[in-house]
Amino acid sequence: MEGTFREQLFFLVLCLSVLKGDSRYIEDNDISTEGLFSLLNSELKRELPEELMYRRSLRCLDMVSVEGQFTFTADRPQFSCAAFFIAEPNEVISVEYDNVDIDCRGGDFIKVFDGWVMKGEKFPSSQDHPLPLSQRYVDYCDSSMTRRAVRSSQNVAMVFFRVQTAGSGFTLTVRRLTNPFPCNVISQTPEGTFTMVIPQQYRNCSFSIIYPVEVQVSDLSLGHLNDFPIQKSSLGCVEAGDFVELLGGSGVDTSKMITVADLCYSNSPVRMKIACDNTVVRMVSSGKFVNRVSFNYRLLDQQDLHRIRGNSVEDYCFSG
Ligand SMILES: *[C@@H]1O[C@H](CO)[C@@H](O)[C@H](O)[C@H]1NC(C)=O
Repeated sequence: MEGTFREQLFFLVLCLSVLKGDSRYIEDNDISTEGLFSLLNSELKRELPEELMYRRSLRCLDMVSVEGQFTFTADRPQFSCAAFFIAEPNEVISVEYDNVDIDCRGGDFIKVFDGWVMKGEKFPSSQDHPLPLSQRYVDYCDSSMTRRAVRSSQNVAMVFFRVQTAGSGFTLTVRRLTNPFPCNVISQTPEGTFTMVIPQQYRNCSFSIIYPVEVQVSDLSLGHLNDFPIQKSSLGCVEAGDFVELLGGSGVDTSKMITVADLCYSNSPVRMKIACDNTVVRMVSSGKFVNRVSFNYRLLDQQDLHRIRGNSVEDYCFSG
């Protein structure tokens, strides 16, 4: 009972903060992770009808984790709305505009963002995303836009929209497509297993778990291309060029998070409790090798949380 009430409360706070946010810049949405995930949980309970494409209306603040058609119709002027989309880790999201009836000249817009923005922070961070920030927004109202479908680079995307005329709106068709080499991921669940592979690419990938969790890295293979193992150098992991880091923090931008541990040798399994709002497994890859890391994670229980958060005078949130 308590849990349900808490969820309702967060949802209410979430709605209120969006409603009063008209004058604020839309990206500074003050959305708590808990509020967001209670939306997600209610979304997961929906069943996809077998023969028909799933259809429902879109709310001004919404979370979508299934394929289908989503229609927004303004019942009154709506200045700052946002819909979050999430798919499985090995999928990307395609968003297609259908039946758009908005007043672009009058200031309405529909912008697809390649990633998520929460509390003003972006996932993936600008450093880890293949595209420059300006290209991660696709505005329907941009006259140079000829595409009618936008594809995300990872399993999350979002749509910001403003519709000021009652009765106006649009329909989005959302599809999930397979991604053979998922790089940046936000986990839908607080427990799971994942293997991240970076095949000889100069890039960094982050797996983000927006829950306090225990992470166990079970397998780590860096630079084992052609049986040529990376030298065990006396230098730290960072100097080695290829490594895995565990990060903890309260936002979603990995470049603003604290490094809990750097891993670059696969000699022993690593297990850590990270009682932060967001936990990230990030792999840094030089492009010289095929790098792989496997890990599993589970939600920390109340006892763990009390012990870790209770102990710390400063604002750190992890323990070995
Ligand atoms: C990956 O991250 C490392 C350290 O965080 C950084 O030095 C490097 O430039 C990054 N690589 C890319 C492709 O952004």
